Amino acid sequence: MKRQNIVHLTQTALMTAMLIVLGMIPGIPLGFIPVPIVLQNMGVMMAGELLGPKEGTTSVALLLFLVAVGFPFLTGGSGGIAVFAGPTGGYLLAWLFTPLLIGSLRRHFGGSWNWWQEFLMVIVAGVVFIDVTGSVWLSWQSHMTLAAALMSNLAFIPGDLIKAGVAVAIARQLRSVPTLNLD
Ligand code: BTN
Repeated sequence: MKRQNIVHLTQTALMTAMLIVLGMIPGIPLGFIPVPIVLQNMGVMMAGELLGPKEGTTSVALLLFLVAVGFPFLTGGSGGIAVFAGPTGGYLLAWLFTPLLIGSLRRHFGGSWNWWQEFLMVIVAGVVFIDVTGSVWLSWQSHMTLAAALMSNLAFIPGDLIKAGVAVAIARQLRSVPTLNLD
């Protein structure tokens, strides 16, 4: 196996491990919708930011596969195929595509981005995309109007903006370490 492949495999496995660790941090229930505030979505943003579209998506897909086969790796220890049909199914689907979006946008347009430009991109591809997709599914699954689902998701925005900022700050720091082989 080529050295580069081993590096990518290791980075992917470590990212999945980080996503699992973030899932161990308890969520904050909101009460008015069956979707908690979690930290795991910050890991999904970091997967795209640090590993790019291919390895980033693979690391999130691996997490979701392990969840699907029953490992309790989501926040609060939930797991099993049924969670994908539950109220948070839309967020989980969006998680799968988020590293692809973030990684591709950065790879194609991000060469000379400053912190704010990269932060804005992660807000669009890692916050708005996930929260809107999650809201559409939630409204259908929980028999709410789309407007009500979108309005209730505003509660996630302050935390999600902080998570996006932290993900960008960490990614920009780590990319400047040559031995980590991040691009
Ligand atoms: C799950 O554990 O089943 C998925 C939880 C999804 C929570 C979403 S991710 C985007 C938004 N921000 C949060 O902090 N919570 C929701």
